[in-house]
Amino acid sequence: RFAAPAADAGSGTAGAGTAGAGTAGAGTAGAGTEFRNAVDTDPAVAAHREWAKAVVGPGSGYVSVQAPEATRTAQIDDAVARAVAAQRAWAAVAPADRATALRAVARQLETRRTDLVAAMVHEPGKTVAEADPEVSEAVDFANYYAASAEALEQVDGAVFTPDGVTLVTPPWNFPVAIPTGGVVAALAAGSAVLAKPAPPTPRCYELAVEATVAGIAEVADQIGLDPQTARDVVQFVRVPDGDLGQHLVTHADVARVVLTGSIETAEMFAGWRPERPVLAETSGKNALVVTPSADLDLAVSDLMKSAFGHAGQKCSAASLVILVGSVGDATTETGKRFRRQLVDAVRSLDVGVPTDLSHVMGPLTEPATGKLERALTTLEPGESWLVKPRRLDDAAKAAGIAPERLWSPGLRDGVAPGSFFHLTEVFGPVLGIMRATDLDEALRLQNQVAFGLTAGIHSLDDDEIATWLDRVEAGNVYVNRHITGAIVQRQSFGGWKASAVGPGAKAGGPNYVAQLGAWADDAAVV
Ligand code: ALA
Repeated sequence: RFAAPAADAGSGTAGAGTAGAGTAGAGTAGAGTEFRNAVDTDPAVAAHREWAKAVVGPGSGYVSVQAPEATRTAQIDDAVARAVAAQRAWAAVAPADRATALRAVARQLETRRTDLVAAMVHEPGKTVAEADPEVSEAVDFANYYAASAEALEQVDGAVFTPDGVTLVTPPWNFPVAIPTGGVVAALAAGSAVLAKPAPPTPRCYELAVEATVAGIAEVADQIGLDPQTARDVVQFVRVPDGDLGQHLVTHADVARVVLTGSIETAEMFAGWRPERPVLAETSGKNALVVTPSADLDLAVSDLMKSAFGHAGQKCSAASLVILVGSVGDATTETGKRFRRQLVDAVRSLDVGVPTDLSHVMGPLTEPATGKLERALTTLEPGESWLVKPRRLDDAAKAAGIAPERLWSPGLRDGVAPGSFFHLTEVFGPVLGIMRATDLDEALRLQNQVAFGLTAGIHSLDDDEIATWLDRVEAGNVYVNRHITGAIVQRQSFGGWKASAVGPGAKAGGPNYVAQLGAWADDAAVV
C-alpha cells in the first residue's frame, strides 16, 4: 500500500537477517508524499517496510519483506516529477563533487557488504562465493564512474549536458552489481535516477539503492546539495511489470532507459520508445572453444566456472563448449580423457541450498519452464546425456526450498549445428558439447549464433589465438580464462549483434558515462 498511516507500521519482521528489518514506523516521508520509497526514509531506517509484501526467496525459503509496489499511475507520475526537480539541481553539481558523492556510495556499499551478500543468497539463491565478488563489482562501479565524472570536466572545448531522468531496470541475476552500475553511471553523468527492481529480487536492489542514497546524504553538506535533491536524486520505484511498468518506461519525462534483460524485453522497450534512447544489454548463447594446444586441465576448470556459476543463470554463461580436432574426437586418447575429465568435474559440483557454504551451485531463481525445461529434460536428435540433470526434490525439501528449483547440472553431447541447443539461450545449468574439425569450423559455429555476448578460447598457440580474436563475433572475448565475471575497468562489458539494443559503450569502461548525455562545442553554447 502507499501512503499508509504510521499506525500500520511494524509488520513483517521475518527475513534473511538483513540490517534494519523490523524497524518500520520511523518513516520521515513528508506529508502528502504519494510515492514513499527508500529515498524518503532515513536510509539507516528502512521504514518503507511498513507496507510489507512477502516474497519467498528460493535461496533460503525465508520470507522477506519489501518496499511497497506501485498500484496507480499517479504514484509513478509523482516519482517522475520529483526526479525532474532533483535532476536540475544535481546536474548543476560540479562533476568533481558528484565524484565525491559516488566515492561515498562506494564506501557505503562496502560497509553493507554482509547485508548485500545475505540478500543475494536469499532472493536469487546465489552462493556466497558468487555474491561476495558481486559487492566488490558494485563498489568498483561507483569508484570507476566517479573517475569518469571527473573526466567529463577535463574535456576541453566541449560542454556536456546529461540525458535527464534515467530509468535503470536491471535483471535479477546480478541484482546488486548491475543496478548499482546503471545508477552510479547516470549519477556520474548528472542525471537523476529512477531505480526499478526486477520482480524476483527487490530487496537486493533496495539495499543497493539505500547504500547509494546514504552515500549521497553523507556528503550532501560538503558538496552543497540541498536535502530535497539528496533524497530525490535516486528513487527506488517498485513498479510491477505490465501496464504500470509500461507507463513508467514510456513516461514523457523519462529521458533515457538503461536495461539489462532479455532480448524480448529490450525489443519491447525499444518499440515503446521509438525515438528515444534505450541502452540495453540482453541475452547470450556463449561458447568456449578448446583446441588441442590448450591446457586442458585449466579448460575444464574454467568451463565449470563459466557454465555452472549461479547455476548458469548469467547472460555471460558458457552454454556450449566447441571441441576442436582431437579434443573432440572420442576415439582418440585426448578426446576420451577430456570427456572423462568434464564428466567427473560436472559430477563433482555440490548442489544445494546456498546458505551451506560447501555448495558451489544453488537453486534456480525461477522454476524451470519453457526453454530451460526443454534443455534440462529433453534431448534433440543425435544428442546424448554425459551427465543427466536431475531434480533434487528431497534435498530441496530438506532445505525448505521449492522442489522445482533445485537441479543438478547437466552435460549433453552431440549438439548439432543449427539445433535448438546450439542457437537458443536457456539460462540454466546445462552445458552442451559441439565438435569442430578445425578452428575455422569452430568459429563458424560460434558466429552462427544470433547473439554476440561472451566468447572464449583455450589455446596455447599464438596464431590460433590471433585468428580467433580477429574473427570471433562477441562483445566480450576471453583467452585462457573463464568467460563470466568481467572486471570493471579491466574488462568492460557489453553486447554485440542481438546481445545489444541501441548503440553504446561497454559498462565499466571508457566512454560509458560520456555517452549518457549530449556534447556541444563551447562556442555553440550560450
Ligand atoms: N558482467 C557479468 C559477467 O561478466 C554479466 O559475467
